[in-house]
Amino acid sequence: MQFKQSSKIEALPKYIFGIINDLKKDAYAKKLDVIDLGMGNPDMPTPPHIVERLCDTVLHHPNTHRYPQAKGMPKFRKAITDFYKNRFDINLDPNSEALVLIGSKEGIAHLCMSYLNPGDYALTTNPAYPVHLNGIFLSNGIVHSMPIGPDNNYLPDLQAIPEDVARKSKIMFLNYPNNPTAAVVEDIAFFKEVVRFAKKYEIIVCHDNAYSEIYYDNYCPLSFLQVDGAKDVGVEFHSLSKTYNMAGWRLGFLVGNADIIKPLEKLKSYLDYGAFTALQLAGVSALTESQQCVADIRHNYQLRRDKFITYLHKIGWDVPVPKATMYIWAPIPKAFLHLGSLEFASRLIKETGVAVTPGIGFGEHGDGFVRIALVTHINRFYDAHLRIKKFLDKGIS
Ligand SMILES: Cc1ncc(COP(=O)(O)O)c(C=O)c1O
Repeated sequence: MQFKQSSKIEALPKYIFGIINDLKKDAYAKKLDVIDLGMGNPDMPTPPHIVERLCDTVLHHPNTHRYPQAKGMPKFRKAITDFYKNRFDINLDPNSEALVLIGSKEGIAHLCMSYLNPGDYALTTNPAYPVHLNGIFLSNGIVHSMPIGPDNNYLPDLQAIPEDVARKSKIMFLNYPNNPTAAVVEDIAFFKEVVRFAKKYEIIVCHDNAYSEIYYDNYCPLSFLQVDGAKDVGVEFHSLSKTYNMAGWRLGFLVGNADIIKPLEKLKSYLDYGAFTALQLAGVSALTESQQCVADIRHNYQLRRDKFITYLHKIGWDVPVPKATMYIWAPIPKAFLHLGSLEFASRLIKETGVAVTPGIGFGEHGDGFVRIALVTHINRFYDAHLRIKKFLDKGIS
């Protein structure tokens, strides 16, 4: 018997990391020593005090084993708003302006479901983190892509959005520091322009700030909510995945405009019971105890970034130096450009065992690039660059 999946699920292409995983499996099967720079999956462990809080809670507080409150426990919501006050100097009401998520990816997809009716438009950059596009698609919305690239400093040109599309749009997704391009917003004037635009066309701005704590040199990321009037139109997604190496724990949150948050809270009360209480208490430890662990994580990525960038430049691959995120957005060398990013990444892993993510997985405007995630031990980069050098030197056969 064959059961037919819904046409919507059928229409979804295979998830980009599924493709990479298949390529990795083939490489392992051929006994290749894989150096995995593909998925943005932190390889470092969660800081011990956070793990201890989880273990202690699970062991000694069995009342936490019951269903949690869908919107998140008050203690964690308070920790979230205190974090925002300390880090960004933003005042938020823990009761109405913070919502706990089972990872921010979940919240992004469900926020789309909370707002979009069939035929509604939503604006998102291209390239973008996949759920910004797929969340719209799964909610029967229409994606309007805002191309970003080196020519516009990876910031969308709001004036290029056709007037009729702007009028029909309900949501705009932004994400800085950006995945996959590692672009950052250095001048708050951009966010001010976004607020003006959103007010004019009555659009909800969803800023995804998953990488706000992974930054380097003299740069420190902003919150969209720091702009006057941003809370009138906006919310900000945040994740513990990268900041505290907690990707597998599935813990994130949404803050900002209470009225924008409410429908998502309602939807979640029908779909899930929120994050496991013991995880939320571990999240309290993460957000409220010493932030030295975050500085250490950042420092580790910085060492990796500096080492690998130096190697790549030495072998003639002129990749830009990221100011934030654990990604290098690498333009495919000219001699290989005609292959497209999927074929380039496939050949790279098949011939060298080095896995990177093809830019096409983030939208067609990403196709001239591959994303390199700095998620392996620093000692592996020497070997990785020698293998890449051999691959590039050999050219197309
Ligand atoms: C921009 C962006 N937003 C959200 C997420 C998902 O975060 P979470 O683990 O909280 O679902 C990621 C993960 O890679 C990301 O890159």
